[in-house]
Amino acid sequence: MTESIETTLQALLHTQSAPDRALYELITSPDCDVELSSLADRVRRQTYGTAVYLRGLIEFTSHCQNDCYYCGIRHSNHMAVRYRLTREEILDCCTEGYALGYRTFVLQGGEDPEYTDDSICRIVCAIREHFPDCAVTLSIGERSYESYLHFFRAGASRYLLRHETADPRHYQMLHPKSMSLAHRKQCLYDLKAIGYQVGSGFLVGSPFQTPAHLIADLCFLQTLSPDMIGIGPFLTQHDTPFAKYPNGSLSLTLRMLSVLRLMFPYALIPATTALGTIHPQGRELGLKAGANVVMSNLSPQSVRQHYALYDHKICTGEESAQCRGCLEQRIKAAGYHAVTDIGDVKRAANEL
Ligand code: 5AD
Repeated sequence: MTESIETTLQALLHTQSAPDRALYELITSPDCDVELSSLADRVRRQTYGTAVYLRGLIEFTSHCQNDCYYCGIRHSNHMAVRYRLTREEILDCCTEGYALGYRTFVLQGGEDPEYTDDSICRIVCAIREHFPDCAVTLSIGERSYESYLHFFRAGASRYLLRHETADPRHYQMLHPKSMSLAHRKQCLYDLKAIGYQVGSGFLVGSPFQTPAHLIADLCFLQTLSPDMIGIGPFLTQHDTPFAKYPNGSLSLTLRMLSVLRLMFPYALIPATTALGTIHPQGRELGLKAGANVVMSNLSPQSVRQHYALYDHKICTGEESAQCRGCLEQRIKAAGYHAVTDIGDVKRAANEL
């Protein structure tokens, strides 16, 4: 490890920041990965010990009005199988998840206008009524301030919306004209203003991405100061315009996870399904690089394979109970322990 990288690591450790050129050197140098991830693990243990928070993920609709070039459930993909879960089906997933110990339900779906504000509110209310000791996280894309406010009042307290890339020109290379980074950012600021615990994040290794784009992602996250940060490698989906582009890299994703842990010691950072898809031990490696959350699939087995954002997605064949046991073992084998409490973010008062 060079002296300048050592200086960068110390700066990140003590000030949670570093100059852009220092970050550039760090994220383009493969030879300091061991030091970087062990430092990130140390920081994670200082705030969260060995706890890994489990979240129950319910992928409730594969319909989407958007047309993101990387995503398998984009509107123009006529090969995608579309499904929607009813409120009762979603509640059944929660009942099963609750029995397995989950205390956070993440409702994720494409941007599907069939679920009006009222229907989302009814779903959120029903979950909160049946499972008052659980948190509801929404991940349903861009909506108006008023819609977000309705969902919050109905009892949703957390919202996940990745910015995907913080460079406006790169954003336009990944999305059609109808979408903009400015609007995505506005949604994130609206969610924060309403009082949600907010999660954002980006793709690693998406087509046309450069290290400078990744630095812009870090910089935007420093401005946003999110509670949760989800990143994962870009993975090819064979029926999208990006079918010919290669997968993002495992090692770069791990490196970015460690940098995020050093910059955001308090953050809830998942070892994502995409990371588990790119490498059989991807999620374990993610935990060791600084991640402290794992999301487990609670969707009915019959629909799982149809939430096909990318090819070869893991955990599509298992039952929820099987996923739960498998995850617990993997977390233990990596040297951590699974926690099923509500798992709110642990921010110091001066970070709020
Ligand atoms: N590869 C990796 N991640 C993807 N996502 C969507 N499509 C892909 C893909 N091909 C991610 C996006 C989105 C999240 C729900 O899934 O970052 O925010």
